[in-house]
Amino acid sequence: MNVFYAKHPDVLSRYAADRFIEQLNKNPKSILGLATGSTPKKMYAYLGEDTRAGKVSFSQARSYNLDEYVGLPGDHPASYRYFMQEHLFSQVDFREGTTFLPNGVAQDLEREALRYDNKIREEGEMDILILGIGSNGHIGFNEPNIFFEAMTHVAELDESTRKDNSRFFDKLEDVPTHAISMGMRVIMQSKIILLMAFGENKAQAIYDTIKGKIDPRVPASILQLHPNATILIDEGAASLLEEADYVRL
Ligand code: GLP
Repeated sequence: MNVFYAKHPDVLSRYAADRFIEQLNKNPKSILGLATGSTPKKMYAYLGEDTRAGKVSFSQARSYNLDEYVGLPGDHPASYRYFMQEHLFSQVDFREGTTFLPNGVAQDLEREALRYDNKIREEGEMDILILGIGSNGHIGFNEPNIFFEAMTHVAELDESTRKDNSRFFDKLEDVPTHAISMGMRVIMQSKIILLMAFGENKAQAIYDTIKGKIDPRVPASILQLHPNATILIDEGAASLLEEADYVRL
């Protein structure tokens, strides 16, 4: 696992955007894995600017998001489809029908999870995947005590996750209790993984991910076994680490 540090998150967002651009320029038909949350917003803004500047194109790529809330249709402002539309899909040149998220309002959610899993596996594997991390160490909505071999599934959200994410809703009760999340198995098959973590509330999760044992209680710790995973941390997220634990960007 590579661990890269920069004092300011923008440097890390720029680095992550550049890795995506590099991948797309090498293979315009790349399969991209995408995340939501506050963390990747700046990276998506950079990708938007660089698309407008003609430095990169998404016109032959396809994307798969990590997760979607159960019960929120794509036009709900707190849905992940809506987030992606606003922060990335409307800013770059994906062709219609090439960006995928699980359908959180499917009649049969288990079946939808399986369909999504199969769809990604039919692609082969993702070429590059951007991840955030929950303050409890989750990736996607693979909450603590996840089975590392998990397929895409209907996940019950931890109370701590619902609290963390309540800032995107009017009140805590509005935060869905479940989501469909890409499974750890598919995540681990992505050829390149970039995980970004900003701020002190991620420091413990980052410490456990990098320095702890591989443990289902910290889902991100499995990344220690990935052959090409890079962790990108700012000053806050690195606050429990020592200088020797990372390389400065
Ligand atoms: C949500 C998402 C995760 C994301 C996490 C962190 O729970 N399911 O994919 O990594 O939030 O969010 P943020 O970047 O806002 O801290």
